[in-house]
Order: sequence, then C-alpha cells, then structure tokens
Amino acid sequence: MPDILAIALNPAVDVSCEAESVRPTLKIRTRNQRHDPGGGGVNVARVVVELGGSAEVVYLSGGATGALLDDCLERTSVRLHRVRIEQPTRVAYIVHENQTSFEYRFVPEGPQIVPADLCNVFAHIERFEGTYVVASGSLPKGAPSESYAKMAEIAGRQNKRFILDASGPALREALSTKAVFLVKPSIGELQGLVGRTLDEDGARNAALEIVEAGRARYVAVSMGMEGAFLASENGVIRLPARHVRLRSAVGAGDSFVGAVVFSLAAGNDVEQAFRLGIAAGAAAVMTTGTQLCRLQDVEALFTPN
Ligand SMILES: Nc1ncnc2c1ncn2[C@@H]1O[C@H](COP(=O)(O)OP(=O)(O)OP(=O)(O)O)[C@@H](O)[C@H]1O
Ligand SMILES: [Mg+2]
Repeated sequence: MPDILAIALNPAVDVSCEAESVRPTLKIRTRNQRHDPGGGGVNVARVVVELGGSAEVVYLSGGATGALLDDCLERTSVRLHRVRIEQPTRVAYIVHENQTSFEYRFVPEGPQIVPADLCNVFAHIERFEGTYVVASGSLPKGAPSESYAKMAEIAGRQNKRFILDASGPALREALSTKAVFLVKPSIGELQGLVGRTLDEDGARNAALEIVEAGRARYVAVSMGMEGAFLASENGVIRLPARHVRLRSAVGAGDSFVGAVVFSLAAGNDVEQAFRLGIAAGAAAVMTTGTQLCRLQDVEALFTPN
C-alpha cells in the first residue's frame, strides 16, 4: 500500500505540440503531439513515482476526455482511484513556438462537480491507511472553498500528515483548521494570503507567524529562480535555487512538492526533504513543456547539506 495519497480534484489531459509560428487566422500546423496526464495532484503523484516511491492518486474524471485521462494515467505506475463525474475532464493545450521558443498555454477551467463527488473523495481519504495526504491544485467549479479544510481535518483526526499546495480562500480556510503539516505557497500566494506585498524579510515573518499561530507546522515558501525558504518552530532555512539551463518552468512547484513528500515518506527529516524539493524544482525547469523532473537530474542536483 502506498504511504502517499495525492488528491486531484481538477486534473487535466495536457496536449502539447510544436508549431513553427503562432499567428491569427492562418491554419497553424503542429507536430509531435503528446498527451500527458496533468494537474497538481496528478503531477505530485507522478513525481513521487519517478523518484522511486509509490503513490496513489484519487482523481475526478468524466466524459470521453476523462477516459483519455484514465488511459494516460494507466501508463504510469501511480496507483489509481477514480471518482467518476458527470461533466468531461478538461483538456489543456500547450503550443511550443519554435521560432521564438515561447510557450502558449491554454488552460480551461474544467468541469462543474457536485457535492457527492467530493464526498467520495473525503470517504477515500478516511479509508486511506498511509501517512501522507497531499492536495495540490485549484478547486473545480462546484467545490466549496472549505474543500481542502475538510480534507485537512479528516487527515488530522487520523494523525495523517496533510500537505497543501493551494491558493486563495481554499488555502486560507485549510490553514484555519490548524491541521496542516506542511504548506507550500509561492511568494505570490503568500502575499495573497496576508493581503499585502512582501519583501523577503516580510515573507519570512509572515511564514513564521503562520507557524507560531499553529496554522501549519512547516511553511515552504518558493520563489522561482530565487530559491525557497522553510519556516518552522526552529526558525528559517534559506536555500538558493540550483543553477540550471531554463527550458520550461512548468511543473517546478509540483516537482518541488512531490520530492518533499517522497523524501518525508522515505523517513528523511524535513530539512533533507526541503533540499530534495529544491533539486526537483530545478530539475523540472530543465525539461521541456509539461514534462516533470527526471530522477537522474534530481540526483545530480541534490545537495544533502
Ligand atoms: N528557473 C529556475 N531555476 C532553478 N530552480 C528553479 C527555477 N524555477 C523554480 N525553481 C525551483 O523550484 C521551486 C518551486 O518553483 P516555483 O517557486 O516557481 O513554484 P510555483 O510558483 O509553485 O510554480 P508552479 O508555476 O509550478 O506552480 C523553487 O523554489 C526553486 O527552488
Ligand atoms: Mg505552484
């Protein structure tokens, strides 16, 4: 049985391709089309598996595009628990323009879900016997803003560790349960949470205040190519980003979170997990398009101290 359960309430099929140039009106011929499973929770689970761990994902899928997502996921080694929904799964479209190397990303909002869909997910979290429950990504239409808060409470009641990568009201409400083990806001998401712009000192203080108030035990604030810091009752650990050649920043956050939860589940302490997250975030930007981090890059970039 996997020790990690990832939650994917609004997963996607990521369709990616290349075009010489993207122009209005003209027919744009594309090549090298790929279909990958995507969306926060799905990506986190795939990263865990890439790093050699095992993870289960509970995900919502519906319609013909849901069947395509199921098919994409069945090609991975992630253990699957599908919750069928009425409306079709979203399809994101990503076009790499060869002339400029720009990436155009079209990301639909996704299906409307109903309360019973969420109840199925809650019930699955209740049944899960592992230690780590990790929720990542935006809420679908129809999911109330307390959705992640409810999951945090279920996990907390059962002494499971709830890890969250979310934003806006869903993030705020989850933190107010005081049942979050680790939260990973980007600095922009942290600013949204406190309602003001923050320089790095301000961000440190805001993260430490979250810890002191008991709203999360660990707060990992990611700052893209500036790296990240980890706040806990022991203070702040600051790490710069690893220097790598940037191909596509897509998936850095998910790779960071996947690596952190993988490392924790492997029995490492939070600082080591944080260091693996830094390596995985950098490894993700080395890969093109929607590809996540690769094990060999993560190993090469990891520094244990
Ligand atoms: N250009 C980069 N070079 C090296 N490392 C990077 C780069 N971008 C991100 N990372 C690493 O990945 C971590 C997570 O990235 P980031 O802060 O961009 O997450 P995010 O804003 O949640 O991203 P996402 O858009 O995937 O949600 C960073 O803290 C950093 O360590
Ligand atoms: Mg993010």
